[in-house]
Amino acid sequence: MPVTPVDLNDANILITGPTGQVAAPIVDALSKIANVTALARFSKDSDKDALEQRGIRVIRADLADKRSLDACPDDFDYVLNLAVVKSGNFDYDLAANGEGVGNLMARCRSAKAFVHFSSTAVYEYAGHSPRKETDPLGDNHRSMFPTYSIAKIAAETVCKFAAHQFGIPTTIARLSVPYGNNGGWPYFHLLMMKENMAIDIHPEGPNSYNLLHADDYIEKIPYLLGAASTEVTTTNFGGSQAVSIEEWCAYLTELTGFAPNFREKSTAFGSLSIDTTRMHDLIGETRMDWREGIRAMVENLSPQLLR
Ligand SMILES: NC(=O)c1ccc[n+]([C@@H]2O[C@H](COP(=O)([O-])OP(=O)(O)OC[C@H]3O[C@@H](n4cnc5c(N)ncnc54)[C@H](OP(=O)(O)O)[C@@H]3O)[C@@H](O)[C@H]2O)c1
Repeated sequence: MPVTPVDLNDANILITGPTGQVAAPIVDALSKIANVTALARFSKDSDKDALEQRGIRVIRADLADKRSLDACPDDFDYVLNLAVVKSGNFDYDLAANGEGVGNLMARCRSAKAFVHFSSTAVYEYAGHSPRKETDPLGDNHRSMFPTYSIAKIAAETVCKFAAHQFGIPTTIARLSVPYGNNGGWPYFHLLMMKENMAIDIHPEGPNSYNLLHADDYIEKIPYLLGAASTEVTTTNFGGSQAVSIEEWCAYLTELTGFAPNFREKSTAFGSLSIDTTRMHDLIGETRMDWREGIRAMVENLSPQLLR
C-alpha cells in the first residue's frame, strides 16, 4: 500500500532550482494550487522576472553561501530541493550541492517534510542488474560530469546528517531520467540525431534507464512528501517501465526519420535501470507510457521534425 499523500492545497512550499529542467513543470503545477516560493541564484535576471510576473515569490540566494539564505523565510510547510550545479569545480560543486542542502535544511528545520532530489548517478556501474537503494555507490557520471556523482553522494550524506540533527522528516528521491514537454535526455538525443552527432553508449547494451515523465513526477510529489521520515527514506524515483537509449532512439527514428549515430565507449554511463520494489511500495506505479511521453515531447518542442 502506498503511503498517504500530503495535501498541498494552499500549503507554503519552497522549491529550489525552479528554473531547471526538472523543477520548472513542478513550479507550474504547484503554483496553481499552493503558495510557491522559488529559490535560485537567478544567474539570468529574465528567469527571476518571468517567475515574478506569474505571481511567484522569488528568493535570490546561493546555497553555497549560508549568509545568502538569511533572506529566506524559515517557516515553509514543505521544501523540494531541486537545485544542482555541475560546474566541474570540485570546491564549488561540493559546497553548493553538499553543504548547500545542509544550509537549506538548517534554515528550514521546521518543515513538515523535505524532499531532496538525488540521482541514480550515485550508483556504481553494475551492468544490467536493476539498481537497489542498498547497492554500492560509485563515480558513475565522471566521463561527462566530473563532479556530479561525487557531489550527489556528498549531498545525500549531508542531507541525512541534517535530517537527523534537526529532526526533519525527509525523503531522498534518486531520479532516473526525467523528461517531458520541456525536454530531457531523449530530446538531446533527437537533436544529436538531427545533426548526425555521435551518441555515446556503453558496449554492454542495451543501455537501460527508467524514463520518468513530468506528469508522473508531479503526481508523485505528495507521496514522496508523505513518505518522509526523520530516519530518512531513500528511494529510487523513475518510471515503472525500463527502456533503453537504443529503444527510445529507434522510436525517435520512427517518428522523425533521423537515425542515431551510436558510438560504443566503455566510459559511457552504461545501463542504470532501477529496482522499483521500494518505490512501488511507497508511492505506487507511474502511469505514462514512454512512447506516448516521447511523442508528446516532440509534438510540443519540434512538431516540424515529425514525419
Ligand atoms: N535532468 C536530469 O536528467 C536529471 C537526472 C537525474 C537527477 N536529476 C536531479 O534533478 C534535480 C534537478 O536537476 P535539473 O537537471 O533540473 O537541473 P538544472 O536544469 O541544471 O537546473 C538547476 C537549477 O538549480 C539552480 N541552482 C544552481 N546552482 C545553485 C546554487 N548554488 N544555489 C541555488 N540554486 C542553484 C539553477 O538556477 P541558477 O543557476 O540561476 O542558480 C537552476 O534553477 C537535481 O537534483 C538533479 O541532480 C536530474
